[in-house]
Amino acid sequence: MKRIMITGALGQIGSELTLKLREIYGSDNVIATDIRKNESEAAQSGPFETVDVTDLNAMVETAKKHNVDTVMHLAALLSATAEAKPVFAWNLNMGGLMNALETARELNAQFFTPSSIGAFGPTTPKDNTPQDTIMRPTTMYGVNKVAGELLSDYYFHKFGVDTRGLRFPGLISYVTPPGGGTTDYAVEIYYEAIKNGRYTSYIDRGTYMDMMYMPDALNAIINLMEADTAKLVHRNSFNVTAMSFDPEEIAVEISKHISGFEMSYQVDPVRQKIADSWPNSIDPTAAQNEWGFKAEYDLAKMTKDMIEKLRQQL
Ligand code: SER
Repeated sequence: MKRIMITGALGQIGSELTLKLREIYGSDNVIATDIRKNESEAAQSGPFETVDVTDLNAMVETAKKHNVDTVMHLAALLSATAEAKPVFAWNLNMGGLMNALETARELNAQFFTPSSIGAFGPTTPKDNTPQDTIMRPTTMYGVNKVAGELLSDYYFHKFGVDTRGLRFPGLISYVTPPGGGTTDYAVEIYYEAIKNGRYTSYIDRGTYMDMMYMPDALNAIINLMEADTAKLVHRNSFNVTAMSFDPEEIAVEISKHISGFEMSYQVDPVRQKIADSWPNSIDPTAAQNEWGFKAEYDLAKMTKDMIEKLRQQL
């Protein structure tokens, strides 16, 4: 990785990944792209280009103009939004990915795109979900993710594109909020706890999902991309996780820092159904063995940091 182009650079992952990559690889070597520009640091701290990922020509031209050797494709709709707009989700998530893979092929670039725990479905083993297992998701988002993993593998085998990916769990951060995901509750809860001392969860008690703090997610992306290709048995995509909790457990942890924090429940049937179709916890052993994946933050450490950072910010 020397010159990196990122799509969806102003989104939940991109807005932080862009800054981290600029620190490591140099500001001018990280080309942020998104469908529109804003005032954020990611948009302002280095090269930025407006690129609609459904426009193959624009993507290839931008990559050529900046002579990139790595494409990181992050632009996508999350699970709940994709469920509300399935046709649009297919066109954006799959069309965007196809264009990004074609761009990588054309430039002979290394390639990264995130998959998700959403790639699993109700018939997948729920606990300690293996790396290689049944993948029959029942959401449009999940269908996109499985198809995306297969397509990324296809580009590796067919065209020799160095494609790599991670099955991310819910990602938690105090920088850019996610939008339209099922795991978003685990981010919203911190904002509401600090602002109002209470939170109404749309996910029900007892619903376990994997989660990870953003600093661990960023390190995982970079470490995977820098990993020795000879050591990779898998590519698209690796299970990674840092913790698994249900709404009650995160509420208890928050209560340790915000006394009197109150949790109530108003379950959203759409997002609950999505959550119920996903694993309780996934097994990251393949990522640990093949490229040394490790997470620093558990629920307690993340909660302490989230609350400190959000208190300064809000
Ligand atoms: N955070 C994502 C979502 O909830 C999962 O990949 O859609």
